[in-house]
Amino acid sequence: MIDSKTLTQFNIEEQQKISGATGELTLVISDIATACKAISNGLKNGALADMLGSLDNENVQGETQKKMDVLSNDIMLHVHRHFGHVAAMASEEMEEIVYIPDNVKYGKYLVVFDPLDGSSNMDVNAPLGTIFSVLRAPAGITSPTTQDFLQPGTQQVCAGYAVYGPSTMMVLTTGNGVNGFTLSQDIGEFILTHPQIRIPEDAEEFAVNMSNQRFWEAPVKRYIDECVQGKDGPRGKDFNMRWVACMAAEVHRILMRGGIFMYPMDEKLKAKGLGGKLRLMYEANPMSMLVEQAGGASTTGRERILDLQPDDIHQRVPVVLGAKNEVERVTRYHQE
Ligand code: F6P
Repeated sequence: MIDSKTLTQFNIEEQQKISGATGELTLVISDIATACKAISNGLKNGALADMLGSLDNENVQGETQKKMDVLSNDIMLHVHRHFGHVAAMASEEMEEIVYIPDNVKYGKYLVVFDPLDGSSNMDVNAPLGTIFSVLRAPAGITSPTTQDFLQPGTQQVCAGYAVYGPSTMMVLTTGNGVNGFTLSQDIGEFILTHPQIRIPEDAEEFAVNMSNQRFWEAPVKRYIDECVQGKDGPRGKDFNMRWVACMAAEVHRILMRGGIFMYPMDEKLKAKGLGGKLRLMYEANPMSMLVEQAGGASTTGRERILDLQPDDIHQRVPVVLGAKNEVERVTRYHQE
């Protein structure tokens, strides 16, 4: 294992390939990795550390906050606040963007994150994640505004997630493929274990919350219905289904062994005036960049996710991502 590169060694090598790179992005990624190690540590004692259960408050999304949501958010804010590599941050857990204290040098990056994805899994000891996206702060700006964050996903400089499962992994892209690192419990470093991850173009596995089936739009109903018919239907092959209720874990499975994941639009979401379930800037965009970089595709069903112009930090969108041919089929069903 020690023959392989650490995350920091890997990023320095990548940075050296880019002329004019200052190393600041490498430092931002190192800070995120430090936060993910601390979150992983906070998760691992579960009930023994009194980390299960909810608090009385709700977050900006109207969701009840878990104790670990708050701790993970504090950890992410803390690592970036003091070291001068970022200009501002935005989090799923906070309505407004977070500024860097005046006495700290402003960095040139904006970091957007979901500190604890799938947090309802905490109480049942199932996988959780941290999802992040790094954008450039507009040049010359020392005090970014919310508007400065509203960049399409194509502008992301880096995207990734940590998944806290049987082992802790960090998977990321800086636009040159997707690489996976496993946290060594022995030396406390993320080690490159999954270089240049690729998603097979075809799939026999789908992930969707089937309990919403009757609320979906016709193209999604058609696609899933054909998968469920298996060998006896028009697809002529059987499909398997998985639902972990943690986007980081679902996308991780797709990067490891293929498949398609979707959280489509449905009547219940529409009735609440929501554009979808998942958040564009810190869920859909980073995951779409990873999936595309690994040879997959990502869409709302109608538009490529990375092309969407965000109008709000907490904007929600429908998501269909994974195996290229399956995502194209879902898109085709929407067009038809
Ligand atoms: O952040 C939202 C999220 O927890 C995703 O990680 C996950 O894919 C989804 O919600 C689970 O949704 P549901 O509660 O419908 O299973």
